[in-house]
Amino acid sequence: MKKNNNTDFNINNINQTVTLYGWVAKKRNLGGVIFIDLRDRSGLIQLVIKPDNSYYEIAQTLKCEYVIKAEGKIIKRENINKNLKTGEIEVEVDTLEILNTALDIPFQLTDDVTAFEDTRLKYRYLDIRREQIKDKLITRHKITMAVREYFDKLGFIEVETPVLCKSTPEGARDYLVPSRVNKGKFYALPQSPQIFKQLLMVGGIEKYFQIAKCFRDEDLRADRQPEFTQIDVEMSFISEEDIMEVAENMIKYVFEKVKNYEVKLPLPKMKYNDAICYYGTDKPDLRYDMKINDITNIFKNTNFTLFQNAIKENNIINAIVVKNKADKYSRKDLDKLTEFVKTYKASGLAYLKQESSLTGSIVKSLEKEELENLQNQLSLEENDLVLITFGPYNIVKTSLGALRCKIAKDNNLYNPNEYKMLWVTDFPSFEYSEEENRYVACHHPFTAPKDSDIDKLLNDKANCYSKAYDIVINGYEAGGGSIRIHNEDIQNKMFKALELSEEDIKEKFGFFVDALKYGTPPHGGIAFGLDRLVMLITNTENIRDVIAFPKTASASDLMSECPNTVSEKQLDELSIKLK
Ligand code: AMO
Repeated sequence: MKKNNNTDFNINNINQTVTLYGWVAKKRNLGGVIFIDLRDRSGLIQLVIKPDNSYYEIAQTLKCEYVIKAEGKIIKRENINKNLKTGEIEVEVDTLEILNTALDIPFQLTDDVTAFEDTRLKYRYLDIRREQIKDKLITRHKITMAVREYFDKLGFIEVETPVLCKSTPEGARDYLVPSRVNKGKFYALPQSPQIFKQLLMVGGIEKYFQIAKCFRDEDLRADRQPEFTQIDVEMSFISEEDIMEVAENMIKYVFEKVKNYEVKLPLPKMKYNDAICYYGTDKPDLRYDMKINDITNIFKNTNFTLFQNAIKENNIINAIVVKNKADKYSRKDLDKLTEFVKTYKASGLAYLKQESSLTGSIVKSLEKEELENLQNQLSLEENDLVLITFGPYNIVKTSLGALRCKIAKDNNLYNPNEYKMLWVTDFPSFEYSEEENRYVACHHPFTAPKDSDIDKLLNDKANCYSKAYDIVINGYEAGGGSIRIHNEDIQNKMFKALELSEEDIKEKFGFFVDALKYGTPPHGGIAFGLDRLVMLITNTENIRDVIAFPKTASASDLMSECPNTVSEKQLDELSIKLK
């Protein structure tokens, strides 16, 4: 067995004889002396083989990624390499054995890799040899270990829940698995263990957690995968505050243990409506300010037709101020920003620059008083840039919210090593689905409404708020949960509010509604996106970087070429005929 790691050794081990195993990361021949960078999981160490060594010929045949065993003596290195943990030493090789050869590799396994991501994903097992990916997997392991430690200490138990499940509604499309034994019937892969964890509370488990695989057939983004992992938590006899406390303490524990980063508790809380109003999103990135300002009032009596019409139509006029950057934005840059907000359905983007006076696209159309009011309300200073859009509330907020993030990113307005965390609370219970022409659950149908809003479930859905909360870190939704309905009457009211027929309820949740009748304790929980936590802690914006074998944006695995067709025989066994 391999007993040492390359990076176990340093200047204190001079003259020690060691046996090392690993991959040839690099080979150089300098004036007849062969230098090899030997890589193992821990890192690199330099081997030296001189021409008088009886293994010299073998060393000459080595190529990149050959697997070797080397024995030798640790000596002091002449030219110290400060970038390497073992940079002060090298190993003078006595014996050398090739354990395996390797084909020419399709891309360089360096951290400044230039290969396309698709190539790296096709040869993912090689990509994992790169420090950048390997280190993220190691950090991921440390995070899951810290999570398990944390919950174990608090008396939680980890319970596994099924992967072959009944289809339950969570908002996304299910992945289906045909049953061979029950022809024509399907399992669904769980979008989350939601129903099972609630049933565990009915079962008296009281404190549950699980590192759980979840599956959602939805459009993928940079922070979404079709199969991902949740740190799933549920507790009985608790309030919203209790769950938030347990959850934020977990975050504190993990960040301190894995990243040595101190998280100050309690985390600030922001109501959903305020998040949308000031940041245009339910996951505000608080590392920079640039709040959205409502300037509708200034233009109540305006003569500027565009704003006049907006106000007549009950629309809003909002602005963000980019401090001290007016000179950085040319006309062309501003046109690009206009195109950007249009992708969020905004009608356009007006701009003003605070130079010695206000200049910009709409200055001529505005009265002196309006301009002065703008300067005052927005506290404008020399070189500030004001970006304005108008239209329906949601479009204006969403487009300026996205623009805010883009501008912060384009101008490096935040420190990538800083974390700003908060709770977003008081989510609406329902959101209106234009597609389905009805109100649908904002979270899931088991989320408890605020006590004061129970009566609104059926007749004032737009103003019904829930005991739901999300934990947001640097603009990512890192987790979300809620207090659940444990009362059968309220659960039935909720189903009714969602316009589910008796049949639907029975068919989809019959077993669950039945369970609620057998002494269900008050309970609630949360689920963190483990992949997103790893992304945040390892500072990557690409979720694929933190998953050993991820899927592409089209939900495929380029390495194993999955999904793939299956044989007629397999389909026959399942009684499936393809259309
Ligand atoms: P929710 O759907 O908000 O809640 O999911 C919880 C957390 O899981 C992460 N997440 C994802 N990560 C990667 N790829 C995806 N496709 C993806 N979808 C979600 C996010 C999110 O905050 N059962 C409820 C939780 C509860 O109520 O206790 C649930 O699944 O970080």
